[in-house]
Amino acid sequence: MNFLDIQELIIAGWKTQTLFSALELGIFEQLSQQAKTIEQLAQDCHFSPVSGKKLLTACVALGLLTKTNDTYQNASVTQELLVSGNPIYLGDVAFHIRDILPLWNKLTDAVKENSNRWQQVTGSEAGHFSSLYQDPNQLAHFLKTMNLYNQETAASVALNFDFSPYHHLLDIGGSTGVFGQMIISYFPHLKVTVFDLPEVCKITEQYIKEQYHLEGQMATHEGNFLSSHSLPKGFDIIYLGWVLHDWPHHIQLEILEKCYQALPPNGILLATESLINQEETGPLLTALLSLDMLVSTDGGGESTGEEYKERFSKAGFESVEIISLPIMRDLIVGVKKVRAIDPT
Ligand SMILES: C[S@@+](CC[C@H](N)C(=O)[O-])C[C@H]1O[C@@H](n2cnc3c(N)ncnc32)[C@H](O)[C@@H]1O
Repeated sequence: MNFLDIQELIIAGWKTQTLFSALELGIFEQLSQQAKTIEQLAQDCHFSPVSGKKLLTACVALGLLTKTNDTYQNASVTQELLVSGNPIYLGDVAFHIRDILPLWNKLTDAVKENSNRWQQVTGSEAGHFSSLYQDPNQLAHFLKTMNLYNQETAASVALNFDFSPYHHLLDIGGSTGVFGQMIISYFPHLKVTVFDLPEVCKITEQYIKEQYHLEGQMATHEGNFLSSHSLPKGFDIIYLGWVLHDWPHHIQLEILEKCYQALPPNGILLATESLINQEETGPLLTALLSLDMLVSTDGGGESTGEEYKERFSKAGFESVEIISLPIMRDLIVGVKKVRAIDPT
């Protein structure tokens, strides 16, 4: 690290806010069809041409826009990733990160007190998911963010784990259900049930019917894995994607034990999580995600692979292994082994 690197860190938030404002004003959407002048953009996006020009200059300097004579255009990466409706759209991720920025602004207090910042920021005593889901816009941004990363995760898991021997997958905390949809595209014999909170399942139902067209193969099960004594049975494989890191270690263990109880002999538990390396020096994105869990969740945080293996084993799983994936999460696999009956 040198002077410039530290300076970059100090002003990183300015860059982020420039991007957020351009998205909020709809600049990239307006430029998605044709190049425009500052006057046209000011009219279409409802901003002052004087201040708007400052924002556009910063967007050009950041490489988000290009400027030719007096007209502005989306850079090709902006056109690909920051215009809604494209196969990969990062705008909802940006809006989700913006939604939780007030929590991050209180990071120092979170570190001092080892607790999330919802109450400090909103005044509400509600837990993480209740707070996040209170606002339909925040719920939509969160689910779309999960949908994007879960899709990438599913494609990678499908290439690294053979689902052929299994029949019915229970995706706990499965959000929009995109994991199941992707896995079915690789293993078309599989059935998938998404277990999530009622307000999420209502949206998942729409995804299943209107986007995946998989009503015959996918279903939802409304429930709460914390307050329910047990999880639904009848599934030979259970999946937990980015679920464990939302909770403190003792609750992670409770969830793992409930999964163990719900599975039949030889049933499989899969989990994907972003792993802190064994030396606890990174990777950077996972280290930052762990701080995100600190400010937002009810005691969650990232763990090392060894820590997850230990928790899986404590819950009863055997042959626990970690399969490295070329994405920001790795796959943890555990088996509920058949116990040989002692003849004595
Ligand atoms: C971080 S998201 C992970 C989404 C998805 N599995 C993935 O891999 O991207 C956690 C999910 O768990 C769900 N969830 C949180 N608390 C829950 C509870 N008590 N019972 C059931 N689902 C819950 C949330 O609604 C959300 O969909």
